[in-house]
Amino acid sequence: MRIVLAYSGGLDTSLALAWLQRHYDAEVIAFCADLGQTEDLDEVAARAERNGAAKVHVEDLRQEFLTDYAFAALKADAVFEGRYFMAASLSRPLIAKRLVEIAHAEGAEAVAHGATGKGNDQVRFYAGITALDPALRIISPVLEWDLHTRAAQIAFAAENDVSLPAFKTSPYSRDTNLWGTSVECGPLDDITIAPPEEVYSVTVPPEAAPNKPAIVRITFEQGVPTHIDDEPLDPVTLVERLNALAGRHGVGRIDILENRLVGFKVRGVYESPAATVLYEAHRELENMVCERDLFQYKAIVSHKYAELIYDAKWFSALRSTLDAFFADIQRRVSGTVSVRLYKGSATVLTRSSPHSLYHHDYASYEAENEFDQRAGEGFSYIWSMQARVSSLRAGA
Ligand code: ARG
Ligand code: SIN
Repeated sequence: MRIVLAYSGGLDTSLALAWLQRHYDAEVIAFCADLGQTEDLDEVAARAERNGAAKVHVEDLRQEFLTDYAFAALKADAVFEGRYFMAASLSRPLIAKRLVEIAHAEGAEAVAHGATGKGNDQVRFYAGITALDPALRIISPVLEWDLHTRAAQIAFAAENDVSLPAFKTSPYSRDTNLWGTSVECGPLDDITIAPPEEVYSVTVPPEAAPNKPAIVRITFEQGVPTHIDDEPLDPVTLVERLNALAGRHGVGRIDILENRLVGFKVRGVYESPAATVLYEAHRELENMVCERDLFQYKAIVSHKYAELIYDAKWFSALRSTLDAFFADIQRRVSGTVSVRLYKGSATVLTRSSPHSLYHHDYASYEAENEFDQRAGEGFSYIWSMQARVSSLRAGA
């Protein structure tokens, strides 16, 4: 049998690579997606080879990830449970898609991943792979093997000469890409204590950030961020630069209890400096160019869109149909917003757009204009009719 394994180079997938070869007598092809994580991918590829991979595919998917997944969520203003920018959730459908494509190209009968049975990721992989090729066999070693304790895993690694990453002793479950980091488990499982500083890797503590704020100008074209401080940048450079800048100002830390798809609550600590700033700026522009009804209605749909991403329904008719709804709005979401970064906060300072619906003369109390204030009384009179009728009835 030939199996394509989504390989991160971490403990679980390194064990999985060795275990699959032995348990299924399989030839295993390792696939490693470069999504801007911090691990050295040459080392990851070398570890896959040392652990017996028949072939190793390392692919730079950073631009595709941002353009087709992260920016789709940004255009939809989708944030899970109001806080989480879903960096990990958004990456799973892309990894699933490439697993299926590589399996087809390599003539493999099965694909595999290292996600746990207690988590969301297993469902995202399963659902993504099934949506793209329901005939492909999906193997989840972590759900099948009996390597449940750290001791059993170390013993298996020693017996089978499995080379493990140096960070195998970390108690945390980490996932990192350009859109954000996530850390769960270990000391974080005690929700009565604050996260230890060691869980953070891209932001400084807000109190250690510079005393002088930074002001950054972000330009969007049709909902997509294209410039920082008037300099045109490709998506990868733009997000890298914003992560570094906003991270230096302590922006983008989140510590939440989230409601996992599998039903229990788990604590997640996240860092998403670039996403935090881009969402603030994008939402501000959208507000400027949308009519009141559309802006308010859209929030309901944004909420649904976030749920679909988190709940493993990226490949669904509802998600792609909602994309069309948001795409129509984005035609007008062009312009520039400046944001102040200061000790953990990102605050909009100025905004402008050629499609702005903001009408200075209507808004201003100073200007003489065609807004007929006398119409206010008739408007208020009829607007209050139901209150009047109820009140008269109650007094009768
Ligand atoms: N709880 C987050 C989510 O479901 C993060 C998951 C990160 N995955 C991981 N294998 N560490 O999106
Ligand atoms: C994990 O922490 O390893 C799993 C996270 C998830 O799948 O939800």
